[in-house]
Amino acid sequence: MTDISTAKAWLAEARHPVSFSGAGLSAESGIATFRDPDGVWAEIDPEQMASPHGFSSDPERVVAWYNARRRANEGAKPNPAHLALSSQSHMIHITQNVDGLLEAAGATNVLHLHGTLTRDRCHAGCGYAVAATKTGLYHCPECGGAMRPDVVWFGEMLAGSVVRAAETAAYGADVMLVVGTSAVVYPAAGLIEMAYRSGAKIVVVNQEPLDLGVGVELIGNAGDILPDLFT
Ligand code: APR
Repeated sequence: MTDISTAKAWLAEARHPVSFSGAGLSAESGIATFRDPDGVWAEIDPEQMASPHGFSSDPERVVAWYNARRRANEGAKPNPAHLALSSQSHMIHITQNVDGLLEAAGATNVLHLHGTLTRDRCHAGCGYAVAATKTGLYHCPECGGAMRPDVVWFGEMLAGSVVRAAETAAYGADVMLVVGTSAVVYPAAGLIEMAYRSGAKIVVVNQEPLDLGVGVELIGNAGDILPDLFT
């Protein structure tokens, strides 16, 4: 059996399939990845733009940068990879992506490990959150704290409820489909090992090999490979 036919057979038989995705899933929708040569972190220092320290040092700059990203992503549409994933109604989607393209493709079971660009929340932690305004730095009407994008920055904890749901999905998965991630950012990437150790078959679809040494790896564009996996 070829790797693709093995992956297709595993997915066809799966009763508890889970996807785990990263920026490569949305690359063919025109959204930049992070660690590719033309990725976001090739030009921008994440310590300045995606950390509590960076926000405290220059909140206006950080908010302006996120608003520019939001504007750049505004016209992005789901690509064939999002559509293929969302066609699997029993699949739980764990994503590191902060765009809403899985939902735009019709997926309902989506766990956003790294938050979402569509909302702002109070950096002081009072719990206030609101749809993103894209208007520059503003302050929380509840407590006066600075408002920031509702994403998880380096050095921050992931939301406990989302992590618990993602871990439960990973432990219960019989197949985990890993799509478009370098799998180097923890704790998110640890979910792959968690799923594997609890018996899941691992299928990787990525432009570059991850060489995880488990399951099968299908190298290429997610938008080409994923539709094929479900036919
Ligand atoms: N199809 C499949 N894979 C692709 C495609 C594509 N069209 N385009 C790029 N890739 C692959 C790249 O080869 C790379 O391995 O997607 C991966 C993207 O990796 P990263 O840029 O590191 O993105 P990601 O894994 O999502 O990063 C994790 O890092 O900075 C943080 O919070 C950010 O959630 C993000 C986290």
